[in-house]
Amino acid sequence: MAARRTKQAAPAVEEQATERVVAPERVPEEERFDRAFRPQSLDEYIGQSQHKENLRVFVEAARRRGEPLDHVLIFGPPGLGKTTLAFILAKEMGVQVHLTSGPALEHKGALAGLLTKLEQNDVLFIDEIHRLQPAVEETLYPAIEDFQIEIVTGEGMYASSIQIPLKPFTLIGATTRKARLTGPLQSRFGTILRLEYYTLEELSRIVQRSAGLLGVPIDEAGAMTIAARSRGTPRIANRVLRRVRDFAEVKGQGKIDADIATMTCEALRIDGFGLDDLDRQMLRTLVEIYDGGPTGVETLAATLSEPRDTLEDVVEPYLLQQGFLARTPRGRMATRKAYEHLGLRPPKAVPDNENGSGLFEHE
Ligand SMILES: Nc1ncnc2c1ncn2[C@@H]1O[C@H](COP(=O)(O)OP(=O)(O)OP(=O)(O)O)[C@@H](O)[C@H]1O
Ligand SMILES: [Mg+2]
Repeated sequence: MAARRTKQAAPAVEEQATERVVAPERVPEEERFDRAFRPQSLDEYIGQSQHKENLRVFVEAARRRGEPLDHVLIFGPPGLGKTTLAFILAKEMGVQVHLTSGPALEHKGALAGLLTKLEQNDVLFIDEIHRLQPAVEETLYPAIEDFQIEIVTGEGMYASSIQIPLKPFTLIGATTRKARLTGPLQSRFGTILRLEYYTLEELSRIVQRSAGLLGVPIDEAGAMTIAARSRGTPRIANRVLRRVRDFAEVKGQGKIDADIATMTCEALRIDGFGLDDLDRQMLRTLVEIYDGGPTGVETLAATLSEPRDTLEDVVEPYLLQQGFLARTPRGRMATRKAYEHLGLRPPKAVPDNENGSGLFEHE
């Protein structure tokens, strides 16, 4: 087992620094691509099939009744298609979508201004809804429950409140952090959708569809190779695809196959499981500095010099899902698979899965 080292002496920390190709958050120049690649209908939206089937029914029922769709909360890691799905729902309902975000709604007035502009059955999309100010959130309650807002005018003994009726609308909230939403807000959504990481087959279809839009030829093995290295996330799959296209044009014949896709991923330091430098550094730190854990996420964030949110929102979910990391009540632990992936011999007591169970089976 590796001896505990000080932070300064840790190779895992010194190695750090390359660009995160597989970070699922959107980088600024990506906005244009995100919009251009976005599917426009539920039929075009690949994967998440159970949600799609249910949503088809809810949309149809609401349309028949001439009512707005019930309020929807969509949550899941970045880049899985939350915004895309919100826009599709508005389109399927045949209504306008009005876009804002938790941090953008700085005060009650900003929200009131948006709400009073909504037409019958329109969609109000609030991204990062977990970041609403408490006062703004309270204004939202009567708006989504009874389709009205209360405006207070005057002060002190001259203060009076007036109720302003709103046209019935649908609130669609998106968040990467459902746990940060208050109970009262969560309970006001009629539909709560948790988006899942995509399967290889689904990602490969997404890659082929995007390659078609870019006009670049790709074979099935090439699409599968990109899918396998995109950590279950469509945004990453599209990003890796664009880089592979560059390599195909400069180093190949412009056509994407498995060889050029593998070569690109190796150049970008994305391994066969879709892990990049930061993923590997986190595992290495856990194993080499903290003897495999359990270690608190705050400690790991400090050792890696990364914001805690990046580890929690971006790095951990995929490592957990792939079984490299276990979350136990006492902190994070590296699993047997993590040791093996790093080419290290696992100790006797090592968890086999993300819950940390199986921990004592090898003693
Ligand atoms: N189901 C899907 N089918 C095809 N493409 C998809 C799908 N979901 C997402 N995408 C692609 O991935 C890109 C990112 O999706 P989107 O912006 O909706 O993610 P998000 O969950 O809103 O991310 P964030 O949390 O960063 O806001 C989109 O531009 C779209 O091209
Ligand atoms: Mg989004």
